[in-house]
Amino acid sequence: MRFRNLDDADVKGKRVLLRVDLNVPMQNGKVSDATRIEEIAPTITELADKGGKVILLSHFGRPKGPDPKASLRPVAAEIARIVKRPVTFAEDCVGPKAEAAIAKMKNGDILCLENTRFHPGEEKNDKEFAKQLAALGDIFVDDAFSAAHREHAANTSIVTVSNLPAYPGRAMKAELDALEKAFETPEHPVAAIIGGAKISTKLELLGHLLLKVETLIIGGGMANTFLAAQGKAVGKSLCENDLVPAARDILAKAKSLGREIVLPVDAVVAQKLAANVPSRVVPVDQIGASDIILDIGPRSIEYVISVLARSKTLVWNGPFGAFEFEPFDNGTIEVAEAVAELTEAGRLVSFAGGGDTVAALNMASVTGRLSHVSTAGGAFLESLEGKTLPGVKVLLLP
Ligand code: 3PG
Ligand code: MG
Repeated sequence: MRFRNLDDADVKGKRVLLRVDLNVPMQNGKVSDATRIEEIAPTITELADKGGKVILLSHFGRPKGPDPKASLRPVAAEIARIVKRPVTFAEDCVGPKAEAAIAKMKNGDILCLENTRFHPGEEKNDKEFAKQLAALGDIFVDDAFSAAHREHAANTSIVTVSNLPAYPGRAMKAELDALEKAFETPEHPVAAIIGGAKISTKLELLGHLLLKVETLIIGGGMANTFLAAQGKAVGKSLCENDLVPAARDILAKAKSLGREIVLPVDAVVAQKLAANVPSRVVPVDQIGASDIILDIGPRSIEYVISVLARSKTLVWNGPFGAFEFEPFDNGTIEVAEAVAELTEAGRLVSFAGGGDTVAALNMASVTGRLSHVSTAGGAFLESLEGKTLPGVKVLLLP
């Protein structure tokens, strides 16, 4: 995939429309997790340092029309704190308020426009709305990988209805480079860990990954459906019975392709899902009728780590157990620690992503020790399905 290179952009004195993903978690009107802002901060300061007029463009939440609770104003204040320079705010993302705020900008200034989703044209990908947005800038830079799976005005039509030269920003480029390294030019053998609660959302992903990896490690609630597909009793565990045939298909496909699917061999079970309830370790063919599987057991952990030790590349989405509840975070934490150590030793290139996954890796304190961690949720998953995201497509050079 070929893109324009931001190094070549002459931004001095230009109005740079910088699409970012400011859809950050908030509590009591304050940003409670600024990871996404920290990721885009280098692009913001670089463009400002080069003399661009940096105009931030983003959606926030899922408002139906203008809604003070979904204003980006408090987020703009947090950006100012993080980039350590003033960030002004315009109460609309198009029209007179936006235009007046932009007219006042000097080279190197940073302005944040109000939530694009206050206009229905954003999610409808309306061409007229996109033209209004595009008219505010001279060049377009997209640093919102985590929103790239949405085909909305501020990240797709804004490019296709205008003549704005479009560049991936630094954070977007890092995500794209990591995906390319994981899937197009990886060092083999490649392993993938796919965990999380449900298969239903990850069927396409599993099918695609089988074509790309030597070993597919399945964890989390999803694994229970696979155990059921192998004829094992799973007690009261989460299990998507209607997807047992789909799980069987995936097992058969793996076999015909000569890929290894790794399922748990033992499990930590309890009688209810809560922190620190009595639990025990059982082999997966001895799950009792009232047992709930809440984590992988020690033999499974050991085997997963041995697979990773003989792999060169890892893609990881989804935790192994009910990691929000101690001690059922143990499997995820032990594997995460092993991944971090193998990565630091130069033996494994490790990519992880997805909302829950990042939360689990943060809990294991390994986030900064992996090769690349994506904060994207849906966009990361759709990329793993092998799709070129609409927000990425518009940035491609012919
Ligand atoms: C995200 O946070 O996942 C992206 O910003 C997309 O938001 P959406 O799921 O509301 O479209
Ligand atoms: Mg989302």
